[in-house]
Amino acid sequence: MERIFSGVQPSGIPTIGNYVGALKQFVDLQNEYETYYCVVNQHAITVPQNPAKLREQTRSLAALYLALGVDPNQATVFVQSDVPAHAQAAWMVECLTPLGQLERMTQYKDKVQKQQSVQAGLLTYPALMVADIILYQANLVPVGDDQTQHIELTRDFVDRFNRDFAPKGKEILTRPERYTPKSGGRIMSLQDPTSKMSKSDSNQKAFISLLDEPKQVTKKIKSAVTDSSGVISYDPEEKAGISNLLTIYQAFSGQTLASLVDQYANSGYGQFKADLAEVIISVLEPMQAKYQKLYQSSDLDDILRQGASQAKELANQTLADMEAAIGFSYKL
Ligand code: TYM
Repeated sequence: MERIFSGVQPSGIPTIGNYVGALKQFVDLQNEYETYYCVVNQHAITVPQNPAKLREQTRSLAALYLALGVDPNQATVFVQSDVPAHAQAAWMVECLTPLGQLERMTQYKDKVQKQQSVQAGLLTYPALMVADIILYQANLVPVGDDQTQHIELTRDFVDRFNRDFAPKGKEILTRPERYTPKSGGRIMSLQDPTSKMSKSDSNQKAFISLLDEPKQVTKKIKSAVTDSSGVISYDPEEKAGISNLLTIYQAFSGQTLASLVDQYANSGYGQFKADLAEVIISVLEPMQAKYQKLYQSSDLDDILRQGASQAKELANQTLADMEAAIGFSYKL
């Protein structure tokens, strides 16, 4: 069975962008693949975090994975810092990755521009992501568009590592593929449909969080920026706002873009937005009820403990193979 690894940072409550681009796929793919879903808390500390908040958000994100439908009997769900192999492998990846490659990452370049003080981890963070993926020998990595460069970096690292350290004709690491939904790999801000929806946006109206109440969802969709033509059609260049809402509608309803355009051919934006809000609420509301129970329950701790122990088995095996290959095994 082919394997999947993916993760989300506990750096805030995930948005419907995270859901459409990644989390929805976690659930959809778990029957067909052996899946490892990680709460990547070590990634979150590349920017300053409040310890109490980080603790709470880590638990909260794990509960959200499960409430959204990730089944712990099928998937391995765990927290990154519970599996030391991630940090151990990341050091090897850092030492075998040219600095220039990390400096070229657009996410790094963007963040450096926005932040006053920049920690070293912000630059080396993609090496930790490479480590995450290779430790599980993942074939497929479900992520949104913004992670494309990081997956390319991983593929490049795997090729170099196998070339330089594997016995001729053998591979130590698996080269992963990116898995991004055909449309929905980049959900845009509700207030500025030319920029990506982000959980750290200072404007609360720009995103819907997975824990927003129904009233907030309706309000935010109602105030989403559209255009003045009044025509519902899919045209991301000319009608970025409506096209973004159509993409969200499609992901939450399972309907195709074409059938939605057809259905709303004679409707105005008001009706379309009211229906879209209902569709989002119909997914979020039952999920939130499950989330509340899980978050409070010690079952969650058991699931994460069990997940970490399963994850360690595979991760430690790959780590040992990598260490042996680069010359850390010195005993006779
Ligand atoms: P993070 O936590 O920023 O985002 C989690 C996932 O959500 C996707 N995403 C989006 N998809 C569509 N539209 C959007 N507006 C949107 N915003 C975010 C992201 O692409 C991502 O898939 N580096 C990763 C976490 C990570 C990881 C990994 C992922 C660490 N190690 C190993 C996969 C495999 C990150 O910061 O995602």
